[in-house]
Amino acid sequence: MIKSGKNIDYAAKVLNDDGIVVIPTETVYGLAGNALKKNSVNKIYSIKKRPKHDPLICHTDSLAKIKKYVNDIPEEAYALADKFWPGPMTIIFEKKNIIPDLTTSNLNTVAFRIPNKTITLKLLENLNYPLAAPSANVFGYISPTKTEHVHKNFNKGIDYLLEGGNCKLGLESTIIGFKDNKIIVYRLGSLVLNDLKKIGKVEILNKNDNYPGSFKNHYSPRKKLYLGNIKNLCEIHKDKKIGILCYNKKYKEIKYENQIILSDKSSLEEASKNLYSALYKLDNMKNIDIIISSLLPNNHIGRTINDRLTKSAE
Ligand code: TXA
Ligand code: MG
Repeated sequence: MIKSGKNIDYAAKVLNDDGIVVIPTETVYGLAGNALKKNSVNKIYSIKKRPKHDPLICHTDSLAKIKKYVNDIPEEAYALADKFWPGPMTIIFEKKNIIPDLTTSNLNTVAFRIPNKTITLKLLENLNYPLAAPSANVFGYISPTKTEHVHKNFNKGIDYLLEGGNCKLGLESTIIGFKDNKIIVYRLGSLVLNDLKKIGKVEILNKNDNYPGSFKNHYSPRKKLYLGNIKNLCEIHKDKKIGILCYNKKYKEIKYENQIILSDKSSLEEASKNLYSALYKLDNMKNIDIIISSLLPNNHIGRTINDRLTKSAE
């Protein structure tokens, strides 16, 4: 059993001794260690079973601290930081040597974010190093938005779980960088494109562009997830025990208890908050073999939800 609680001083002590602490954020829970220490970073890779070529995001509590670790903060980054930090945005900067190559998978860039979660901000204020923290799930599996999800992923290796309740947003941060006076989106996330467009021109990296983290089989339940027209899929798979991830209503074709609604009032925000939790539930239901679902309206945060559903189904 993982030791857990709300003790920031204890969490800081564990981290100072190169230990690993699960931290809550407004997006998803993170598996955190000292980003400047190879010993801690190695532990993160090994606990998460993450390939060493997939770099880690660093977390801290102020732009002033970020300046110690990056070569240059572009003008646009100041504007974005001012508007969206603390919050679900990760910015890629050119790194200084003080950040070990292990943390960034030998890239000359480093990703930073200031999370919007009070208990974690307090912890970060008390540390004189950033925290490397990927989502606290085994590589490729569904990101955790509740402490019970963290327990489903890990039973050893973690020294402390800092409890912060359910994650308010439920989908990971939006990862961005800058090129040719444009904001480049590496990963869609909880900060929606319309908000970024208020600050500058936005370009989304293509699925085929090769960049770190653009793997298939991400955010995936163990059960096969099929996407399409739900009634058609029910017909095609009628010999299997089906569970449905529904947007706003259940379907009479399948037992109601084997269906989970993301938002009965058709709110995309509510759906994004509930998405991973619904996938965990369906993946752990004993009486279903496969999960079927359909894409949601592709606007606002719906675009990020659809990105995750598509990757879960690959
Ligand atoms: O909301 C979030 O971002 C959460 C919470 C815990 O902060 N973290 C998270 O981390 O989702 P992770 O490791 O599961 O996803 C981070 C992604 C990875 O796909 C990684 O490849 C990419 O960020 N990444 C990290 N450093 C990068 C860099 N220097 N350049 C490009 N991509 C980078
Ligand atoms: Mg992840």
